[in-house]
Amino acid sequence: MKITTILSSSCFWLFVLLNSANPCATVFYKGGNEKTEELEDVKRSHFPGGFLFGVATSSYQIEGAILEDGKGLSDWDVFVHKNGNVENGDTGDIATDHYHHYMEDIEMIHSLGVDAYRFSISWPRILPNGKLGDVNAAGIMFYNSIIDNLLVRGIRPFVTIHHGDLPQVLHDRYGGWLSPLIQDDFVHFAETCFKNFGDRVRYWVTINEANLVSEFAYEMGIFPPGHCSPPFGNCSKGNSDTEPLTAMHNMLLAHAKASKLYREQFQPKQGGVIGIVVNAFMYEPLTDDERDKEAANRALAFNVAWNLDPPVFGDYPPEMRRYLRNELPKFTSEERLLIRDSIDFLGLNHYGTLYAKDCARSSCACSGSACVAGGDRAIRGFVSTTEERDGFLIGEPTGLPICYVVPRGMEELVDYVKNRYHNKPIFITENGYSPPQQEDQLDDLLDDKRIEYHKAYLASLARAMRNGADVRGYFIWTLMDDFEWTLGYGVKFGLCSVDRTTLNRTPRSSAEWYRNFLRKSPSSNNNNTERRPTFSFI
Ligand code: FCB
Repeated sequence: MKITTILSSSCFWLFVLLNSANPCATVFYKGGNEKTEELEDVKRSHFPGGFLFGVATSSYQIEGAILEDGKGLSDWDVFVHKNGNVENGDTGDIATDHYHHYMEDIEMIHSLGVDAYRFSISWPRILPNGKLGDVNAAGIMFYNSIIDNLLVRGIRPFVTIHHGDLPQVLHDRYGGWLSPLIQDDFVHFAETCFKNFGDRVRYWVTINEANLVSEFAYEMGIFPPGHCSPPFGNCSKGNSDTEPLTAMHNMLLAHAKASKLYREQFQPKQGGVIGIVVNAFMYEPLTDDERDKEAANRALAFNVAWNLDPPVFGDYPPEMRRYLRNELPKFTSEERLLIRDSIDFLGLNHYGTLYAKDCARSSCACSGSACVAGGDRAIRGFVSTTEERDGFLIGEPTGLPICYVVPRGMEELVDYVKNRYHNKPIFITENGYSPPQQEDQLDDLLDDKRIEYHKAYLASLARAMRNGADVRGYFIWTLMDDFEWTLGYGVKFGLCSVDRTTLNRTPRSSAEWYRNFLRKSPSSNNNNTERRPTFSFI
């Protein structure tokens, strides 16, 4: 049996490591799902009034224009130009050229009929030299224009302050997220955003997926700055057992300081809300053995709660302290007060479910081509993860070899988060599907599987909400085919396709489905609006 020993919530990028192997060659997808309910015809009216439906993107993945109008280099701009870092040598230099096509893209967003658009601000486009330099007026103008054009079309901007693209100068100056100096740089960036955009933005996310960035950049070495050490990989620099913890610590404190600033100086007059977004896979025990059940809980703690416990409770999960002891950084008592309760909502980026297997009290030999070392180490919580049980895959394969379609995972994850965080408001800030790359697509625009995926995941989300979860919105990843980090352009998540030569955008059938799903029919409105609560959140 193949065990992938990454206890990771982050299977996307493992494609890079695993793509020599095709797990589908030896195992099968059982087909169907235990819960026929997942096939129920989900309707917009199953969600409360005020629930935000949207689409999500991020700056580096779509903007291009890497050195235009005063923008500085991001770490991704530099990283993608090093040989072998990205599939096919793809780069985000042009990406979808959103910088020049943004008006057309806003029209496309508008035509979907969404309530909100989640996008991120490129840090080096606003502050090319970090806090030591000037604010780039052209960058401010660009995002002002996006925000204004969304608002006149009745679309709410849902803004992520930092989504991956760090100014390269901050790595060069003091080592990026490894240095506490970055906390003030981030606060300066966040303050610049609140000052310039906060009069019109009601939803702020400080940092996207600090857990995935810590792991990929500082443990596996597949995101900039490419740090790692054996057995996770052979990088020229890094310590995979400790650096991810340091990077996360600085991201959490940066988040907490920015959130405090927002709440004290901007929230009272601007009236928005602020949260954090985490990459959140669901984990199920590989067997009924108690040890695997505990391993599944540890997997959740070492991935999801690592990022969420501090901004809710003020400290790391006790499960992590137990295994990592003094390796896990400590918050001072002041820092605990600062970070505790520093979010109004939490955002979940959910793409899949994996089985978890204990490596603390059972043997956890790692063999086979889909096996990544490290499940037997404290930093991974002594858990390995796998997509396969008794020769069957956990769900239907997608474009990424260890991401599978497991709609029940959405309900399970939301339940877990609801219970652990006392029903804090949740947004599903990303959920999306990319088709298997090898699949013969008769017509790339007829993406029935993406439609089925969203229907099933929305039905699962609706069940979690019927069980009492306070979920406020759902964003599809993503508007159009984009630069998918180390996977380049080979993986397609878009509701709209983008021709790589002409950059022409064409809606797929999923875009049409989303538009129809979102269209409020007069009858469904009359029948449901009165009974449905409307959020007083904002
Ligand atoms: C998430 C990232 C997002 C996108 C999706 C597919 O982890 O937040 O930028 O690439 O994966």
